[in-house]
Amino acid sequence: MAKGPRPLQEMAALQANPRTSSTLISESARRPSPRRPPVRVRCSATPSPPRSYRITLLPGDGIGPEVVSVAKDVLYLAGSLEGIEFRFREVPVGGAALDATGVPLPEETLTTAKESDAVLLGAIGGYKWDANEKHLKPETGLLQLRAGLGVFANLRPATVLPQLVDASTLKKEVAEGVDIMVVRELTGGIYFGKPRGFGSNDKGEDIGFNTEIYSVPEIDRIARVAFEVARKRRGKLCSVDKANVLEASMLWRKTVTALASEFSDVEISHMYVDNAAMQLIRNPKQFDTIVTNNIFGDILSDEASMLTGSIGMLPSASIGASGPGLFEPIHGSAPDIAGQDKANPLATVLSAAMLLRYGLGEEQAAKRIEDAVINTLNKGFRTGDIFSEGTTLVGCKRMGAEVLKSVDSQATVAAALH
Ligand code: IPM
Ligand code: MG
Repeated sequence: MAKGPRPLQEMAALQANPRTSSTLISESARRPSPRRPPVRVRCSATPSPPRSYRITLLPGDGIGPEVVSVAKDVLYLAGSLEGIEFRFREVPVGGAALDATGVPLPEETLTTAKESDAVLLGAIGGYKWDANEKHLKPETGLLQLRAGLGVFANLRPATVLPQLVDASTLKKEVAEGVDIMVVRELTGGIYFGKPRGFGSNDKGEDIGFNTEIYSVPEIDRIARVAFEVARKRRGKLCSVDKANVLEASMLWRKTVTALASEFSDVEISHMYVDNAAMQLIRNPKQFDTIVTNNIFGDILSDEASMLTGSIGMLPSASIGASGPGLFEPIHGSAPDIAGQDKANPLATVLSAAMLLRYGLGEEQAAKRIEDAVINTLNKGFRTGDIFSEGTTLVGCKRMGAEVLKSVDSQATVAAALH
C-alpha cells in the first residue's frame, strides 16, 4: 500500500549534518529514518510486507531518456532488495510532449504526476524548440509542472566528494570538504510574477518586463524549510538577497530575520547576491545552508555545482506542503551529447535516492543507491565529465551497469551475512 507524502518539516529534518565531504552521502544515509526503527539489512530471503509506490517517469529531452532509464533500473533493484514494489508510468514533458501533443505539459502528464507518489524527471529543452514562442517552450512545461505540483522548496546539495576533488576547477585546498545545501524558492518570484510580458514604452520602443514579487507567507514557508535543513546540518543558514536595491528582497530579509527567533540554534547571516556569487568561489567552505529566491537560486546553484567538478553529479529534490515531490538532476538536457551514450547518469541516480528519502521516506533503499554510487566511483569508473588521469572512462550505460552491480553486490554480502 502506498504511503502518503511525508510532511515537509519532517522531510527537511531528515537532512543530515555531514561533517566531511567524504561522508555526505553515506553518513546522511546511515542515520536511521525517524519514521521507522533502524532495520537490519534485509535480503530477498527475509520477506517483509511489500510496499508499493506509483512513480511517474518524465524522461523529457536530450540526455533525459538515457539517464532516466539508468535511474529507473537502479531504483527498481534497490527497491526490490528492500521489499518495495514500484509501478512506473512514463509520460512526456517538454520538447518530447510538444512533438507528441503540441503542448509542453499535456494535461495527462500533470494528472499522472499528481496521482503518483513521486515524480522522476530527466531534463527538458533542446535547439529544436529554442525559437518557439514562450508558451510553446519546453521550459514552460517544466515551470507549469513545478507550479502544478506546488513544489515550492527546491533542495540542491553541492558536495565535493573526495573521489572527485581533482575534477573541480578550483584549487584543491579551496574545493576540498565543500558541502553546501542550496534551498531555492521554486514557485514564486520573477519566474511567475505578474505583470509580465512584452509591450512598448512611451517612445514606441519594444520592451519586455517581469515582476519580482514575494508575499510574507511565501518567504516564511521557504525560510522554515531552510532553517529546518540547516538545523540538521551544521546549524548555519545564509539568506541571500539584494535588499540594498529590491523591495521584494527587503521584505525577504525582514521575514527571514523575524523567523530567526524561532530557530535560535541556527546561526543566521544575510548576504547580497553579488557578494555571495563572489564568496562561493573565494571561500566556499564558509557556507553550510543557503536560502534564496527563485532566480538567485537558479544562478547560485549552478555556480555551487561547479565547485564539485561536475554538474553531472548533482541531484535535486523539489517538495511541496503535500502531494508528490519532483526529483531531477540539476543538469540540463545537454543536446550536444544526447544519444551518444556519453551522459553521466549519476545525478539522476542520486535524484532517485533523494526520491526514496524525501519523497517516500525509504531511507534504507536510498542508502543502498548512494553507497553503490560511492562504490562505483571508488572502483574508478568515470564518465567524460568527471574523468581524470588514472580512472576508467565509461559511457552512460556502462556506468549504470556498474552501479547496478554495486547494488547487487550489497545484496550478496547481506545474504552471506545472514
Ligand atoms: C533549473 C533550470 C530551469 C530553471 C529552466 C530549465 C527552466 O535552469 O532547473 O535550474 O530556470 O529553473
Ligand atoms: Mg538552472
